[in-house]
Amino acid sequence: MDRLRIQGGNKLIGKIQISGAKNAALKLMAAAIMTDGKVTLNNTPRLADIKTMRELLAGLGVSAEWSGDNQMKIHAQNIMSETAPYDIVRKMRASITVLGPLLARHGHARVSLPGGCAIGARPVDLHIEALKALGAEIALEEGYVDARVPPGGLTGAKYTFPKVTVGGTENMMMAAVLAKGTTIIGNAAREPDVADLAAMLNCMGAKIEGAGTDTITITGVEKLNGCTHTVVADRIEAGTLAVAAVMTGGDLDLIGAREDLIAMPLDILRRAGAFIEPHANGVRVKAGDYLQGVDIMTEPFPGFPTDLQAQFMTMMTIASGASMITETIFENRFMHVPELHRMGADITIHHASALVRGVKKLKGAPVMATDLRASVSLVLAGLVAEGETTVNRIYHLDRGYEAVDKKLSACGAQIIREKDEAIAA
Ligand code: EPZ
Repeated sequence: MDRLRIQGGNKLIGKIQISGAKNAALKLMAAAIMTDGKVTLNNTPRLADIKTMRELLAGLGVSAEWSGDNQMKIHAQNIMSETAPYDIVRKMRASITVLGPLLARHGHARVSLPGGCAIGARPVDLHIEALKALGAEIALEEGYVDARVPPGGLTGAKYTFPKVTVGGTENMMMAAVLAKGTTIIGNAAREPDVADLAAMLNCMGAKIEGAGTDTITITGVEKLNGCTHTVVADRIEAGTLAVAAVMTGGDLDLIGAREDLIAMPLDILRRAGAFIEPHANGVRVKAGDYLQGVDIMTEPFPGFPTDLQAQFMTMMTIASGASMITETIFENRFMHVPELHRMGADITIHHASALVRGVKKLKGAPVMATDLRASVSLVLAGLVAEGETTVNRIYHLDRGYEAVDKKLSACGAQIIREKDEAIAA
């Protein structure tokens, strides 16, 4: 597996183009199978997870081809299989989002249960309950969710999620689009990915209102048509690069970043001492004269995103004073902490909270991570550490950050990717 070698100490200065959001693009690709028309997705990031989703769609008999640097054309003329196999789902949990679309379009879906992952147990019970509320007949067989449409078809229903779930909301919303009658989803996830998905579905002929709020109303339609849609900017990439600017004492103009989608993280950066300047084409983030510890608690949108927790914790390791970081979404999302310890960070974990006491300097070390956001947090640490940091197993990084090493190098980072062959040699 590739690794990154980083020499710390350089300020990052320049402009970076923010890519399309991975977590939105994956669901948009899944939704594209709900029509026999052609769907064109602009601003699709070139990432390992997108490749995995293409493989998954290919297995269903759906073509998803690149037609430009970041443009993908998806055509699900016919669905040839209803199975999302274990080998693909175990690589990428987001595969579960084909459950609702397959069920609605094809009448039958068999999707492998994803199992646990590095950040928590992550069950899919709420996806199943929500689809059952629409009348789906669901059995768990040999590690697969087997879902069928009942004889009369799916029927709209009122369902309130007992807990906010992004994937669960998306699966129910997609299935409800082709159900008979009206569906009202209560306690829906308000994440921008959900709103982006609803926007594309509406462009395909769906009738969805309220996406982006906690109540979504869907009036079922008979059929969807093709459309062209542009994937929303990646708020997590923008937040990650904003941290890179502040930590390194730099000044980055994040082109395409949407201030409204990262209002809470930007507010934390301001409180930590940074200057934030939103403008017509993005957001400029500039380090201030000081970096001050700030407390953070992760919450569903519009709260502070769990997907930025590791990056902000890394920033707090070199801030003045202490910060308390509390993770409320996933039970095991502190996997970056032992690696940050190896770089000299002072962090104490107590249940779901981490007390971070700022140190003067981090020190370079070989490190490794087991999930995407933990990996990028180690890259951030490497950018400010004394000496060299080697981030091993960057497979996870490539799942979710488009050309991150190139983007950082272009702004002054000293960062080299070593390919498999070089490591083997
Ligand atoms: C999405 O995961 C994102 N993934 C995650 O990003 C993100 O961290 C998460 O939302 C929260 O914002 C994708 O969009 C592909 P959830 P998802 O259902 O939909 C529990 C990244 O780094 N839950 O909102 O799987 C669950 O265990 C990734 O890009 C149930 O109990 O998250 C968690 O505690 C990691 N039962 C909470 O709800 C269910 O049926 C929220 O999970 C479903 C979820």
